[in-house]
Amino acid sequence: MSTEFSRGLEGVIAAESALTYIDGQKGILAYVGIPIEELAEHSTFEETAFLLLHRRLPTRAELQKFQEELASQRPLHTHVMNVLKALPHQASPMALLRTAISVLGHFDPTPDDVSSTALREKAIKLISQMATLTAAIGRLRKDQEPIAPDPTLSHSANFLYMLTGKKPDAAAARVFDVALILQADHEFPASTFASLVVASTLSDVYSVISAALGALKGPLHGGASEQVIKMILEIGDPARAEQYIQEKLARHERIMGFGHRVYKTYDPRARILKRYSHQLAQQAHDARLFEIEQIVEKTVIDALGAKGIFPNVDFYSGTVCYYLGIEPALLTPIFAVSRIAGWMAHMIEYLSDNRLFRPTTRYVGPPLGHYIPIDQR
Ligand code: ACO
Repeated sequence: MSTEFSRGLEGVIAAESALTYIDGQKGILAYVGIPIEELAEHSTFEETAFLLLHRRLPTRAELQKFQEELASQRPLHTHVMNVLKALPHQASPMALLRTAISVLGHFDPTPDDVSSTALREKAIKLISQMATLTAAIGRLRKDQEPIAPDPTLSHSANFLYMLTGKKPDAAAARVFDVALILQADHEFPASTFASLVVASTLSDVYSVISAALGALKGPLHGGASEQVIKMILEIGDPARAEQYIQEKLARHERIMGFGHRVYKTYDPRARILKRYSHQLAQQAHDARLFEIEQIVEKTVIDALGAKGIFPNVDFYSGTVCYYLGIEPALLTPIFAVSRIAGWMAHMIEYLSDNRLFRPTTRYVGPPLGHYIPIDQR
């Protein structure tokens, strides 16, 4: 047995997977062998989710059926909605989402069935429900009634409709769809690993996804996107951007949306989102935020690029969503709307050859001694 120790499991191979390939030095990302750039260009979120769940692209008929199944699972269970309505609406949207997923489990007649057939069915439900729940949370935060899903719309268009009450134009729906494709899986980040630790005990899928949501919520993981857009809005003026970042760097603060455990070059997802962010800025005739981002990016790369610190996916996802009219607090839940596909795909894959996760620690406590009775301490 290896006794090597790696803080944060850095560089440790903890499982085998046929889902996502990353080359962090060259900036390559591919799902089931297909480069992310090609999926962003030609695929849809539904097709990408099928690709991950089945580890192959669907036929036309399979895709049609998958889309219909997803659409049929969109409406929210009344009791889940009632629980959401009863909770403080200003609570963290990620905390609300985590609770809602847990509640959803109480209405599943077979929550403990972790066979791959059952998990593929539950995946369809969870992918649909994550979108409906996030849109409902977004509306409740603004004291608005949640909107019932429209089964004629695509997953992305329907999400934007449920959130804003307006059917998005094709271009907006497509941009959002690409954002979902880009975040659908990413090998073994903290959330996926946390989910598989729970899955490896043969616990139920709702516990597994609650664990994933808990890990995703943290600012060092999915929580970074919200911090990025808040930072860009706080900078507010391109003229202030460079000095703002220089001051942060001088205080040795981390700049959110930069750096990655695996990528030591430009994150390929950020490259695609940057293009969309630029496009949306032009369409909105409001380039201010994009200009700020350009200066922030240049300042950070000039200072830290040599250390392998470049924009990650969270840097541009914030402005893309902002230009689509989505408030910053919903960015991390939207990450989950996408990543639920990857979490479920990993759970199905891992359980097909399960081994309980049970690493060990290097003991650094006191040497073996004896219990001291309380009046002798
Ligand atoms: N800003 C400034 N310095 C940074 C940043 C950053 N964003 N990221 C890393 N560094 C520096 C560290 O201070 C450290 O410097 P040192 O060697 O002089 O001490 C060096 O780079 C290495 O940093 P580590 O923390 O060891 O790198 P790690 O692999 O653990 O970091 C992480 C990955 C946690 C993502 C980090 O880059 C970070 O905190 N980024 C900001 C948060 C963020 O954007 N998270 C989203 C990641 S993508 C995602 O989860 C979807």
